[in-house]
Amino acid sequence: MKRQACVVVGSANMDLVVTTNRFPQAGETILGQAFAAIPGGKGANQAVCCAKLGGRVHFVGKLGKDRFGDQLRKSMKSDGVLLGHTMTEADASTGMALITVDRSGQNEIIVISGSNMRLTPRDIDAHSGVFVRGGVLLLQLEIPLRTVSRAVALARQKRLRVILNPAPAQKLPDTLLRCVDYLTPNETEAEILTGVKVTSRRSAEHAARQLLNRGVKNVVITLGAKGSLLVNRKGICLYPARRVRAVDTTAAGDAFNGALAYALTTGSDAEEAIPFANDVASLSVTRFGAQVSMPTLAEVRHFRRQ
Ligand code: ATP
Ligand code: RIB
Repeated sequence: MKRQACVVVGSANMDLVVTTNRFPQAGETILGQAFAAIPGGKGANQAVCCAKLGGRVHFVGKLGKDRFGDQLRKSMKSDGVLLGHTMTEADASTGMALITVDRSGQNEIIVISGSNMRLTPRDIDAHSGVFVRGGVLLLQLEIPLRTVSRAVALARQKRLRVILNPAPAQKLPDTLLRCVDYLTPNETEAEILTGVKVTSRRSAEHAARQLLNRGVKNVVITLGAKGSLLVNRKGICLYPARRVRAVDTTAAGDAFNGALAYALTTGSDAEEAIPFANDVASLSVTRFGAQVSMPTLAEVRHFRRQ
């Protein structure tokens, strides 16, 4: 099958990352180990993941007219993301994320959205030419919900498949869910969407079935080191993740979604795409950082042979 394009409508942030042995308590001061500024943002991370695997990826998003914006543009371009539909907002700062990573690889993140929240439905209409029949639209929730809804409506009209990674989670209307082909929450996001506490395979299935009943075609709940669970009208399947030594789980979900989009644009079905996305994400957690942790296709093939 001919490789289709992937359109990512989403955020880009500069990640300001501190590594530390443990997270501080509220009100406590501790000494950290190191600091780095690394390209991130859920939309940009997913776009870079898909591009590094070999996908043809357009990034529709908004950067500020500042140093971080320039740096993000440069690094996305060098990773092969197509930036013809990436906009600059003159009077807003580029998005930033303050991230702390502890020695077990867990993270805490606070996002300052900046220019990402200036991406409007009107911007989507102005760039509607990038939505081409047969491709994949990939979105997250670090931009305004009304912009997400507009992009999804356009994708439906133009017959693109839609992957919505509902992160950071918020309640979503059924009118939106009905247009989603793949919804990919993690466990806590699934709970925010449904009210069902996801602590086991059974509760994950229960939450996923609620989302199917609200109109989603395929629900994929990512379960961290346990892998991911696909639930659709055909049934339910758990795809376990490979065992790896996790260095930094930041952007594991982004690696999963970028890889899922890549696999769908190359003609894979869900049964093939999800274990592939698991492997890409597992490999990414063995590396530090967001976009810099995304593997190439050759690295994934090598990892799968091991
Ligand atoms: P993040 O918010 O850290 O980007 P997430 O919470 O959205 O991630 P997870 O469910 O934690 O997403 O992880 C996404 C996928 O990454 C999992 O389905 C799995 O394939 C892989 N993964 C995550 N953590 C591990 C791990 N410790 N070992 C192996 N694979 C992992
Ligand atoms: O998913 C990880 C990303 O979340 C980070 O890169 C950070 O920018 C936040 O958007």
